[in-house]
Amino acid sequence: MKRCVLIISIISSVIGSAIGFISERPRHTTPALYANEGSVMKAGDSMLLPGASWTDTDGNMIQAHGGQVQYMPVPDGRCGKKYAYVWVGENKTWGHTGDPVSVYTSEDLISWECHGDVLRPLPDEAAMDTDPYFVSLYGEDTADKKAEIRGILSPGGIIERPKMLYNEKNDNYVLWFHSDGSTEKNEYLYDIGMAGVAVSDSPYGPFKVLGRYRLNRCPDDQIDCFPDSKGEARDMNLFQDTDGTAYIVYTSENNKTIYISRLNEDYTYLSEDPMTAAEGEDFVRIFPGAMREAPALTKGDDGRYYLMTSSTTGWMSNQARVWSADQILGRWRNDGNPCIDAGASVTYDTQSTCLFRTKEGSLVYMGDRWSMSDLADSRYVWLPAEFSDGKLKIRWEGSWKPE
Ligand code: DGJ
Repeated sequence: MKRCVLIISIISSVIGSAIGFISERPRHTTPALYANEGSVMKAGDSMLLPGASWTDTDGNMIQAHGGQVQYMPVPDGRCGKKYAYVWVGENKTWGHTGDPVSVYTSEDLISWECHGDVLRPLPDEAAMDTDPYFVSLYGEDTADKKAEIRGILSPGGIIERPKMLYNEKNDNYVLWFHSDGSTEKNEYLYDIGMAGVAVSDSPYGPFKVLGRYRLNRCPDDQIDCFPDSKGEARDMNLFQDTDGTAYIVYTSENNKTIYISRLNEDYTYLSEDPMTAAEGEDFVRIFPGAMREAPALTKGDDGRYYLMTSSTTGWMSNQARVWSADQILGRWRNDGNPCIDAGASVTYDTQSTCLFRTKEGSLVYMGDRWSMSDLADSRYVWLPAEFSDGKLKIRWEGSWKPE
């Protein structure tokens, strides 16, 4: 019986993802989506141009893909704190592997100051013991820990979808990221399937990696969509609730099932060990077999939780879906596609990475328009999002200003 249900679940997820799959960009049917392609947005501009190139206050291309923006406490330069928009993301200057994590800040969401690479991969194996940057971070670690960190920061490894939270209790910054790479058994770049975590006293780094982990696993009385590799964590995001409790939301079971797991008070690991964690109390599996990734979670004005995801088609865009729930670890409802204008079947040719609030309280959708042939030139598409009739809606705007 279990095997039969598993087969049905796999067939329905394949059909489900095929429906949301489009292999061609809708350039000819919806040229408006690409109207800004030749434009450059720069510091001092007054309007957001979704899909344009975007330069920082030094005139360099912003490199913060798969990222997150939030209005959060940052150092004020006088031992205190002030608030600023912080944008953390993948610096894809070097392509698919060995990407550093970069951080930018802004007052207005258009002019961004670069604070450099706050988490750096190793340029080579020896650097761990010879480069002063790595020696000052990891010099005191044990040989086993150093070997683990060498794997996580390997120049051929994957560091994707970094997300940061400020931890008030410890007055520090915690960075989580999708940590991946090939294994001895499999050359596939996503065979490790773990979530990495790093900490720093400053949002501008340097972040020290603590480790990387497999996370929650399918309970024994449920059907695991990928029983061969328990606790996988790939595309991920963080969510800090209004009471300060933080969660990691990630795709697992070979990208077939999204999980949300509560973090501990330090935000550095799960609140309960995966071997003793209980579904509904410490974590939740949502729509097993649905094949979703690129999670972005937000809370509506109605107190409901809204989780947007993409289908799983590599760097190609596909149709977004939103699930919503009254309780974050409770039962989730399928709200369908949040996009409402031309280009909705491919999320306006983007993949979700974050839903964030401006300081005035309006909601912004942040998507990546990946350029497979030149990942560093992938574009940022930010659009206005709002709640209407209890559903999240994202509309297309070719030029707009978040308020
Ligand atoms: C889709 C994911 O969302 C991206 O972050 C990246 O991992 C690509 N797949 C790689 O194909």
